[in-house]
Amino acid sequence: MTSFDLILRGGRCVLPWGEQEADIGVRAGRIAAIGDLRTASAAQEIDCKGLHVLPGLIDPHVHLRDPGDPAVETIPTGTKAAVLGGITAVFDMPNTTPSITSQEALEGKRAYTEGKSWCDIGFYVGAGKSNIPELAALELQPDVCAIKVFAGSSTGDLLVEDDATLERVMRSGRRRICYHSEDEYRLQERKPLYADGGPHKLHAEWRDVECAFLGTRRLMALARETGRGAHILHVSTAEELEYLRDFRDVATVEVLVNHLSQTDEAYDRLGGYAVMNPPIRDARHMAAAWAAVADGTVDCIGSDHAPHSRAAKERPWPATAAGLTGVQTLAPIMLDHVNAGRLSLSRMVDLMAAGPARVYGAVAKGRLCAGYDADFTVVDLKKTRTIEESWIASPCGWTPFAGMSCTGWPVMTIVRGQPVMREDEVLGTPAGRPVRFDTGLARG
Ligand code: DOR
Repeated sequence: MTSFDLILRGGRCVLPWGEQEADIGVRAGRIAAIGDLRTASAAQEIDCKGLHVLPGLIDPHVHLRDPGDPAVETIPTGTKAAVLGGITAVFDMPNTTPSITSQEALEGKRAYTEGKSWCDIGFYVGAGKSNIPELAALELQPDVCAIKVFAGSSTGDLLVEDDATLERVMRSGRRRICYHSEDEYRLQERKPLYADGGPHKLHAEWRDVECAFLGTRRLMALARETGRGAHILHVSTAEELEYLRDFRDVATVEVLVNHLSQTDEAYDRLGGYAVMNPPIRDARHMAAAWAAVADGTVDCIGSDHAPHSRAAKERPWPATAAGLTGVQTLAPIMLDHVNAGRLSLSRMVDLMAAGPARVYGAVAKGRLCAGYDADFTVVDLKKTRTIEESWIASPCGWTPFAGMSCTGWPVMTIVRGQPVMREDEVLGTPAGRPVRFDTGLARG
């Protein structure tokens, strides 16, 4: 009799070629068989009847703040939040304290992370003005998901704002570069206009559409000139989405769950807990983001999980810290959008598993295929549950989505064949490993 370590029985599996009721057999942490495994046995069997089995969902945009302030977030707490929310891998941003911009810092983070992460993890390396000669070697390390460039300033001290230095960064290596795209000169020029403060909604006026659009136009011109692939993170405007359709030869696109789920009414309701960069904008931009999901412009959806202390979020604007928690709520909110008919489950999987794997070159992740890592997000599409702050595992303890009712909920998270979350219970020990990236890829 064929035997496996684990069989997921009878779930509705979201395969790359469509949905199918099937059993999945796992051996040595990888998918060994997909199909009718009635005659096979396994050390562990999980009944998935009535549930959907998705490839493990990836959050390609998290700030786990480690090293930083453990009262806000750490790698152990942020990855626990991830698996509670059905995420099997995260890509962690480099704007920590200190930033991850050198071989030494990367090695420190790699060593520290061992045995502390609940899910698999990829590391971004930050580009700065002084580490450009090191970038080519840093991006070739197999656990590095990408070089990250802040072309406009946000949290932390990473910034490369001028065309000449951006071009040097682009000419420094081969893999796709990830960009925070807001034009720093326009941000600084407009800052004094808002020096007296005011309501939080002014955040979207200061960091206006043109800040983001101008940043993206400049980056696209340089990307075309240098031939260097670009991934524009958290695209927030209708104008950029329209524009980027003409740059598919060099650009891939991320949209955040926040920009698909919140409009500027959030500022009155949430105050500082709605402030992020680039900002939450009006309904026209949200409609454009959904249209870009529908027509394939968007490659990835992320959370931009960016925790701050309550005190920092409650400082009067413009001193309010920018950034929102989100890794734990990403999958429930997207599943709710699926249930509301805003996208199909297979498009959600394309955006949250296959998409990030393709764009970043994650090896053997993002699809339910024989030989791929046995990462699964098992969801109950009928389960309705309200997001509560008491559920949030990040020490900062808040979510901008508190009180939101979601239909569709992750009930189990399995990383390389090991169940790590079942019905809200975190199982085992933190056994996450570095994601392996195909560093030979110039483009995903
Ligand atoms: O709102 C944001 N917060 N946007 C960013 O780009 C950075 C992030 C953070 O690290 O706080």
